[in-house]
Amino acid sequence: MQIIHTLDPLRRAIEQLRTSGPVALVPTMGALHEGHLTLVREARKHAQSVVVSIFVNPLQFGAGEDLDAYPRQLERDAGLLVAEGVDVLWAPTVEAMYPAGFASNVSVAGVSEGLCGAARPGHFDGVATVVGKLFNQVLPDVALFGQKDWQQLAVIRRMARDLDLTRPAADRIMGVETVREADGLALSSRNAYLSPQQRAAAVALPDAMRAAIARIESGAPVPAALAKLETDILAGGFHTVDYAQLREAADLGLLDARADKPMRLLVAARIGTTRLIDNMAVAPT
Ligand code: PAJ
Repeated sequence: MQIIHTLDPLRRAIEQLRTSGPVALVPTMGALHEGHLTLVREARKHAQSVVVSIFVNPLQFGAGEDLDAYPRQLERDAGLLVAEGVDVLWAPTVEAMYPAGFASNVSVAGVSEGLCGAARPGHFDGVATVVGKLFNQVLPDVALFGQKDWQQLAVIRRMARDLDLTRPAADRIMGVETVREADGLALSSRNAYLSPQQRAAAVALPDAMRAAIARIESGAPVPAALAKLETDILAGGFHTVDYAQLREAADLGLLDARADKPMRLLVAARIGTTRLIDNMAVAPT
């Protein structure tokens, strides 16, 4: 596996990989866990070569968020990626990604508003900007993201369609199902912030979401089911619920009643100082 930190050598390495077939990109911020590694394994099924990026992107962290505390463990991560047979680890420096004078921004309206966009102003501009750059740097045939970050996936697909990206084209941006711990908690690099007590309590989030979905699917009014969901999450040891909403799965349109199209229940809640997000499918009527 080549570990590359600056753009010119990256471009040369990618050109070389492309001679032997399609290239897949898995963008990450590192502190890799089974969720990330599942994306890498899935990538291998769709391409001859796999490039993984690790870049803790300052643009997507707001003031007072965990940019400085975000776990950075490049050597350990590199070892995991070697074991997965990854071809290139693209780990740009901040200067390589944002040279002095960098002044551009990719902003996707609509899908990036509300949900995490409301709680984290500027976050999805930062995500769209860095992912747009990663796409142009690597020019992958296919790129893989987790459904865990459902809104992020919707923002990236919208950007690819709107900007006529051909590498990867919008229909080659794949969403991989959320990988969970045995008790149902979605894997996240931020789970490392939880104390043992908080980690035990955090299962209240997926548990309460599954119960809410069962209620909605058996005909309970959506506002009542969402109110009960919030109460259950708080009773489970979380101290705030940023949002708990039912949305159209594809374009995230807000729903106040069950619909006849694919839906998603999306939640963000805080336990101690840690903010956890999750989302699950809700079956159409
Ligand atoms: P990061 O949080 O490191 O996640 C990298 C990728 O792994 C994302 O596509 C995310 O959805 C996916 N992922 C995380 N946890 C997962 C889980 N439990 N199951 C399946 N996939 C999971 O998301 C980012 O980084 C950044 O915003 C990024 C897209 C790299 C842009 O900076």
